[in-house]
Amino acid sequence: MKRLLALLLFAGVLVLSRAPLRVSATAVPADADAAVGQTPAPMPALEKNGSVVQLLVDGKPFIMLAGELHNSSASSPDYMQPIWKKLAAMNLNTVIGTVSWELVEPREGAFDFALVDDQIRQARAHHLRLVLIWFGTWKNAVASYVPMWVKTDLKRFPRVLSKDGVAQEELTPLGAESVKADAKAYRALMRHIRAVDPQHTVIMMQVENEPGKLHDSRDRSPLAEAAWNGPVPSDLMRYLADRKATLHPALASVWGAGGFKMSGSWPEVFGSSPQADEIFMAWYIASYIGKVTEAGKAELAIPMYANAWLVQNEKQAPGGYPSGGPNPHVHDIWRAAAPQIDLLAPDIYLPDFRGVCAQFVRNGNPLFIPEARASVPNLVWALGRHAALGYSPFGIESLPEDTPLGPAYRTLAGMIPVIAQYQTDGKVTAVVQDSADQRSQEIVFGGYRLTFAFSAGGRAAPQAQPPAAAGAAGGRGTTQEPQSFAMVVNTAPDEFVIAGQGFSLTFAPDTVGPKIAGIGFIDEGRYENGVWKAGRRINGDENGGGTRMRMAGQRIEIQRIRLYRYE
Ligand code: DGJ
Repeated sequence: MKRLLALLLFAGVLVLSRAPLRVSATAVPADADAAVGQTPAPMPALEKNGSVVQLLVDGKPFIMLAGELHNSSASSPDYMQPIWKKLAAMNLNTVIGTVSWELVEPREGAFDFALVDDQIRQARAHHLRLVLIWFGTWKNAVASYVPMWVKTDLKRFPRVLSKDGVAQEELTPLGAESVKADAKAYRALMRHIRAVDPQHTVIMMQVENEPGKLHDSRDRSPLAEAAWNGPVPSDLMRYLADRKATLHPALASVWGAGGFKMSGSWPEVFGSSPQADEIFMAWYIASYIGKVTEAGKAELAIPMYANAWLVQNEKQAPGGYPSGGPNPHVHDIWRAAAPQIDLLAPDIYLPDFRGVCAQFVRNGNPLFIPEARASVPNLVWALGRHAALGYSPFGIESLPEDTPLGPAYRTLAGMIPVIAQYQTDGKVTAVVQDSADQRSQEIVFGGYRLTFAFSAGGRAAPQAQPPAAAGAAGGRGTTQEPQSFAMVVNTAPDEFVIAGQGFSLTFAPDTVGPKIAGIGFIDEGRYENGVWKAGRRINGDENGGGTRMRMAGQRIEIQRIRLYRYE
C-alpha cells in the first residue's frame, strides 16, 4: 500500500513537472524547456548542523553567492534578457528577483505568472537559483505595489491614518480583507511555483519588503486605535514571560519600565512612548506577514524570510525608519507573532556591517543579507564569522562586469562543500582589515596564533547606482574599503586552507608542546566542487624563504598550508 501511494505521489509530481510554463515575450534558450521535465529534487530547507544552520539545496549545503535586481528590472523579460548572461558571467549562483502583486493579479482573482515563469526559465538556462521577493502590501513601508483594485478601494482595504486623520499610501496591518487578499495572491504564487518548479530553482522567498510604518511611530486608524486600547494578546504575554531572560535589552527595558505587567491594554503594559508604539506595530505587521507566509507555505514550504530597513542612527525614532519592521530590538515580537517566518534579514547599507551582523544572529537567527553594498571583505566576514546563508549586493546588474565580486564568488563557489563541512564545528573563521590603515591583526585559531600583516591601502568600494527615488537605505556613498581579508578553514590538525588577499601571515603555536611553528609546505590551488586542485608548490621567494604565507596581491587566491612544530 505504502509503495502504491509513493508511486502515485511520484506520478503526480511528474505530471505537475510537465505543466507547461506560460511563454513570455522573450525567446529563451531551448535547454530551459528541457529542464522542466527533470526529476523532482529535494525541497530546499534549513537544517541545524552542529553549531550552525545551513540551507540545503538538492539535499546539500548551499551558500547563496547572490545579487538582488533593481526593483523594476524583472517586470520586463526583454529588459532582463542581456542581464542574465552578465550575472552568470559574474559567477553568481543565485539571483534575488521580484514578483509584484500588481502584475500577478491585475484583476481580482485573475492571475498571470508569465513574469515569474520567465525568471525561472532564465535562471535555469544560466544555472542560477532564485530567491523571489513578494512585493505585496509592503514595499519600503508603502503600498505602491498593490494592484489598482486594492489601491482604489479604501473601504475594503483601509489605510493607515496619520495623527490628523489623513489616509497614507499604506494599508493598515489590521485590515482583515487586506491580509486575506494578500495571502490569497501569495498562496496562488506559491501554488504556481510548486507546479512549474519541481527541481526547485526557487530556493527561498522574501515575504514583502522592508515593512513598517513610516513618518509616525504608530498607525492612527480607527482599527489601530481600537486594538491599541484593547488587551495585549495573551499569546504575546506568554511568549515574552517565557523568554524574559533572553529578551533584547531594549525591549526588556520598555516592558520592565511598567513592572513587567502580564495583562492590560498596550499603553498599560508597555507605556505610551514611540517605543511602545513600535512594539504594537511589530506585533500587527508580523502577524499579517506571518499569515501571508503561512498561506504560501501551505502550497510550497520552502524557507521564507522578512527583511528590515534598519535604524539608520541612534537619534532616529520609530517612524524615522519603518516602525515595527524586523529591527533587532523587536525580533522577539516578530518571533512571537510570526513563527512561520524562518529568518529575519538585514538590508545593510550602514558602515558598521559587522555590528549589524552580530545583532542579527542573536537568539539563533540565521544570517542572510539580501541587500548590501558590494564588498568582498564583508562577504567573507559574513560567511566566515557568522556562517551566513548568503550575501547579495543590491542592484547587482549595475555593477561593472569586472567587479571584484566575480572572482570572489568563483573562488568561494568551489569551496562551498569545504566551508559547509568545517563550519559545523567552528573550524571556519574570517579576518578582515578593520580600516585601510590598519597594519596587522592577530587571531588564535586551530591551536595557533595567526599574525596577519596587511598590505597597504584601501580602495573606493564600487557601488551599484541606487535608483533615484531610493529612500529606504540611507548612508550610501563611497567608502574607503580595506583591501585585505582572509577566510580561514582549519581543515586538519596543523593544517589551514586560506582564501584571501592583501597580507602575509605567520604562525606560532598556541597550545602546550614544541614552541616553534615551521612550515611543512604550502600549495596554492583552487577547489572545484569541494575537491582540492593543487597548483604551484609555494616556496623560496614566494613564502619569504619558508617563513610565511604570502598573498600580497589584490586578487583573491587560495593557499593550503601544513605546519609542524619543533624546538
Ligand atoms: C531598499 C529596498 O529594500 C530596495 O527595494 C531598494 O529600494 C533599495 N533600498 C534601494 O536603495
